[in-house]
Amino acid sequence: MFDEVAPGYDRTNNALSAGSVLLWRWQTVRALAPQAGERILDVAAGTGKSSAAIAKSGATVVAVDFSPGMIEVGRQKHPEIEFVEGDATKLPFATGEFDAVTISFGLRNVDKPLKALKEMYRVLKPGGRIVVCEFSTPTRAIFRAGYGVYLRYVMPAIADVTSSNSDAYTYLAESIDEWPDQATLSQWLRGAGFSRVAHRNLTQGVVALHRGQKPLKKARASKAATAAESVETAPASRDTATSDSAAT
Ligand SMILES: C[S@@+](CC[C@H](N)C(=O)[O-])C[C@H]1O[C@@H](n2cnc3c(N)ncnc32)[C@H](O)[C@@H]1O
Repeated sequence: MFDEVAPGYDRTNNALSAGSVLLWRWQTVRALAPQAGERILDVAAGTGKSSAAIAKSGATVVAVDFSPGMIEVGRQKHPEIEFVEGDATKLPFATGEFDAVTISFGLRNVDKPLKALKEMYRVLKPGGRIVVCEFSTPTRAIFRAGYGVYLRYVMPAIADVTSSNSDAYTYLAESIDEWPDQATLSQWLRGAGFSRVAHRNLTQGVVALHRGQKPLKKARASKAATAAESVETAPASRDTATSDSAAT
């Protein structure tokens, strides 16, 4: 599916989000706070739009994705970025290789998101940062209702005109609808071992930025890894979500 949408992917994103995707990407880079000389992994990087925004800081960005079609478009558009074909649940990198890791609008698409989070944890150096940018649950009921109508009726109509595979955008609406809310994703991050987990809502919660850190101390990391095992065996449910006190 991603191979098919690759040619019109960036254009369709701009149209469907009415340009908001530019703001979301900017906020993601700010949260990641990349520094010149750092090595940063962008997982499920697609055409490299997210990677290119990070690379402006002077950091070295590696873009990994499992779709050859997305990577081909990415290499043409962003020759300065290193693209690697690979699966988010089995990252082709050594343990502790990166200063920071990020994933934008990708975790929802990965078959086993908890496994992907654990992999992102593994490839980070101790003290390394993670930022996840993903669609989420709007906080206000009235906004949520309007957004539901947009996803079901308006978005497929726009995608019909702008995308090379409009069916993919029916999948997009469904996957957003089924994706866990802010508090549940925070739990997943903690379960994968991350500490200092917090999230920030963008556009009233249409998108949420989650961030966290790989702890410096090994003892805390192994305790968290045990927690990760128990989270992975538990079903993802909005009903079990707890409030995230660090949320802004
Ligand atoms: C919606 S696109 C996001 C692309 C990019 N991060 C952006 O912000 O524009 C989702 C991407 O996730 C990739 N993807 C899905 N599952 C994956 C997996 N298991 N491993 C690597 N990439 C994956 C797809 O190939 C696709 O490029």
